[in-house]
Amino acid sequence: MTPAGKLLRWYRTHGRKLPWRETRDPYRILVSEVMLQQTQVERVKVFYRSWLKQFPSWKTLAEASNAEVIHAWAGLGYNRRALMLRDIARDVCLHGVPTSEDAWRRIKGIGPYTSSAMSAFAQKKRTLPIDTNIRRVLGRVLLGKPFPELSDDEMIGSHADSFIPRRGAYYDVPQAIFDLATSVCIKNPDCKSCPLRNDCKSAKQFLEGRVKIPKRSIAVTHERKHRNKPYPDRIYRGRILKVVREQGQIGIRELGPLVDPNFNKILDQIWVEAMVGRLITHALLSRRKNILTLPE
Ligand code: ADE
Repeated sequence: MTPAGKLLRWYRTHGRKLPWRETRDPYRILVSEVMLQQTQVERVKVFYRSWLKQFPSWKTLAEASNAEVIHAWAGLGYNRRALMLRDIARDVCLHGVPTSEDAWRRIKGIGPYTSSAMSAFAQKKRTLPIDTNIRRVLGRVLLGKPFPELSDDEMIGSHADSFIPRRGAYYDVPQAIFDLATSVCIKNPDCKSCPLRNDCKSAKQFLEGRVKIPKRSIAVTHERKHRNKPYPDRIYRGRILKVVREQGQIGIRELGPLVDPNFNKILDQIWVEAMVGRLITHALLSRRKNILTLPE
């Protein structure tokens, strides 16, 4: 049996049942993919359902204001994704649903991963949307690299055509890899339980204990962080938006203590204003004089 055959057999009994796997509707799949970009599956499930209740179609989302989508996105974080998703819906309403990977890629806000995911999941194309999960599994299996890097994606992608079968449930291959990646082929993998252990170029090194497992993930994100503050600015920007969402409006000088218990009026006001400036630049916040609101 081919590696993909074994993988698909494993997936039939071990695969997760996830709401976006029960549809080929491009709108629903895009919503799930954008939510899954920075958010855990279990969390996404809840927000996915409520988002689709409020915005069941491209059209309903395309017609939503910034304030409406920012409200609906509350709790998911990385709020720019909400506006991006709405802007994609506007593009689709104007120009139609793309039908090829290249056409998805031409929409602003859609990168190589998402365009591949859309053609794989909405259009059953034989392509590999390489995210961190698929990179880890296939980098190990095909390249023999226990901890593959971004620069391995091209090589992994070049195997797609031979790895993905031409018949059967070939379209489930990426989803099956996601599930293997989060249950068996994790950072310190459980090769003994893996359906691909006899096909994997890394299994032997792992099973013989010859691989040193790094303590921290190799990919450290370089987020902006203010000196002496415990969290990256992203967390405080999220809190700023939360205050504005919940209170409707807020004076810029009242904001500091509401987002940071150790806010220092003299040392930290410039920092808060810079974060507000960035939120305004990204159309997540409006300012009139010193009053902040959500943008209409
Ligand atoms: N990560 C990205 N897309 C996913 C999907 N469709 N299912 C599970 N995890 C994912």
